[in-house]
Amino acid sequence: MQTIPVGVGDRVFVLTGAGISAESGLPTFRAEDGLWAGNRIEDVCTPEAWELNPGLVWQFYSARRAAGAAAQPNPAHFALAELEGRIGDRFFLCTQNVDDLHERAGSRRLVHMHGELNKAHCEDDCGRPPVEDHALYQDLAEVGHCACGARLRPHIVFFGEIPLEMERLEREIKRATLMVVVGTSGSVYPAASFVHWARRNRARTVYIGPEPPLNAEAFTQVVEGKAGAVMPGLFAVE
Ligand code: APR
Repeated sequence: MQTIPVGVGDRVFVLTGAGISAESGLPTFRAEDGLWAGNRIEDVCTPEAWELNPGLVWQFYSARRAAGAAAQPNPAHFALAELEGRIGDRFFLCTQNVDDLHERAGSRRLVHMHGELNKAHCEDDCGRPPVEDHALYQDLAEVGHCACGARLRPHIVFFGEIPLEMERLEREIKRATLMVVVGTSGSVYPAASFVHWARRNRARTVYIGPEPPLNAEAFTQVVEGKAGAVMPGLFAVE
C-alpha cells in the first residue's frame, strides 16, 4: 500500500475538488452524467446568467443545497480532518467545493475558494459579509434582500469572477512543503495552477484520484483510486 510521508518539518497544503464528494453521492461537474452535462454553465453560473434569469440560478443552487444537505462526509473527508488533528497549523485546506462536507467531517483550517452553498451575498457587492442561507427557493419572489436593498445572490464564485481569499491562498502555498490535490480535473484556473506554484517552491506534489487530471505531469506522486477508498491510513505522520 502506498503512503504519503508527512515529516515533522512539513507544511501541508491540500486542494480538493468535486471528486472528494463523489462517494458522498454528490455529482462531479465534468463526468458524462455530471452537473455540466445536465446544465449549461452560461445559464446558471455566470454574471450574465444572474442578470438574465436570477430565478433559474437560484433554482439550480437550491437543488444543490438540497443534495448537499442530504449527503454525508465520506472516509476521504474524515482522513483530512484526522491529518489536521495530528499536525495542527501545519495543515491548510483549500476546497473548490461549495458543499460543507469538510466542515462536517471536522476540518477547521479551510477556505472555500469558489464560495459556499449555504450562504448568500449582496448582488451589488455593497461590502456587507455573506449571510447564512439554507432556503430552497423555487420562486424569485421568495429570495431575501441585503440591508442595502439589493437582492441576495448565491455565495458562489461564478465563471469570470475572482476566487475568494487568493492572497491568503498564495501565502499558504508559498509556505507548503507538500501539496496534496484530491479529485479535481485540473481544468479550472487558478486552482489548476496551484500545483505549479508549489513546484516552484520545490514542494512535493501528490495527486489522489481514479484518473489522471489534465495537469498530471506536475505531480511527483500519483495515488490512483477513489479518494474514500485510498485515503484512510494514507498519511504516514512522523
Ligand atoms: N475520488 C477522487 N476523485 C474522483 C472520484 C473519487 N471517488 N470520482 C471522480 N473523481 C475525479 C474525476 O476523475 C475528476 O478528475 O474528480 C474530478 C472531478 O472533476 P470536475 O468534475 O472537473 O470537478 P472539479 O475539478 O472540482 O471542478 C472545478 O469547476 O465548474 C467548476 O466551480 C466548479 O469548483 C468547480 C470547478
